[in-house]
Amino acid sequence: MGKQKIVYDFTDEVVLITGAGQGIGEVTARAFAKSGAHVILVDWNNETVTKVRDELASNHPGATFIAIKADVSSPEDVNAMVKKSIDTFDRIDILFNNAGVTKRGPIKDFTFEDYRYIMKVNQDGTFLVAHSVGLTMIERQKGRIINNSSMSSFVVNRGRENCIYCISKAAVNMMTKAFAVEWVKYNVIVNAIAPGYDHAGGSYSGTGWRICNLVIEKLSNRGMKLLGGAYV
Ligand SMILES: NC(=O)c1ccc[n+]([C@@H]2O[C@H](COP(=O)([O-])OP(=O)(O)OC[C@H]3O[C@@H](n4cnc5c(N)ncnc54)[C@H](O)[C@@H]3O)[C@@H](O)[C@H]2O)c1
Repeated sequence: MGKQKIVYDFTDEVVLITGAGQGIGEVTARAFAKSGAHVILVDWNNETVTKVRDELASNHPGATFIAIKADVSSPEDVNAMVKKSIDTFDRIDILFNNAGVTKRGPIKDFTFEDYRYIMKVNQDGTFLVAHSVGLTMIERQKGRIINNSSMSSFVVNRGRENCIYCISKAAVNMMTKAFAVEWVKYNVIVNAIAPGYDHAGGSYSGTGWRICNLVIEKLSNRGMKLLGGAYV
């Protein structure tokens, strides 16, 4: 027997992806677009996210793609992002809460500003977006959220010197569990993925696709039975 091809169908589902201007967010946006979804592409880099939007719109004329410039750690930007999304589509079915940053170095050399930079985007930003988008899902009693954590939420990577990043991603795991437990009663299903090292940028045949599949798998029927987990 040959390999079985898995076909995902997200026709007419509205997917919001943060950090969609490059890397894992961009690759995931392409996968959702191929599967029939309308995609809201969010990034604080307007140039990259607009470019991705234009390309997806010309390759998938049957769906709608919008680009929103927003800093996920800014409450004002996140409110405006949700408003524009709801004004355009009336709903958000799926959130891939993906935007994140890192900075390398030994803890002893880090300033409090370095620490806040990482925590602000990875912890505050993940919370803000999950909370704001989640409230619209609670209103509809329907929605699915995937936070992008990291393998580094479970282990300290000796030699990589990214301890603050590890701390921020461990927070994402507990946030995922806390949201999941409270929001399942509203039919809002919350999970996380925890990828290992990946270089998605520009290479759509690489491990970026593997991560995409993991995201999409968590949204499939099998994934829907899972709750509050971070899947490596
Ligand atoms: N690449 C890996 O090996 C790896 C492994 C595990 C987890 N992750 C996680 O996956 C996510 C994406 O990683 P990547 O490798 O694609 O990164 P990347 O740097 O290639 O892309 C991140 C994107 O997010 C955007 N972004 C960053 N901060 C933002 C903010 N405050 N508001 C809006 N947009 C913002 C950037 O402009 C960029 O387009 C991150 O959360 C990262 O921690 C990555």
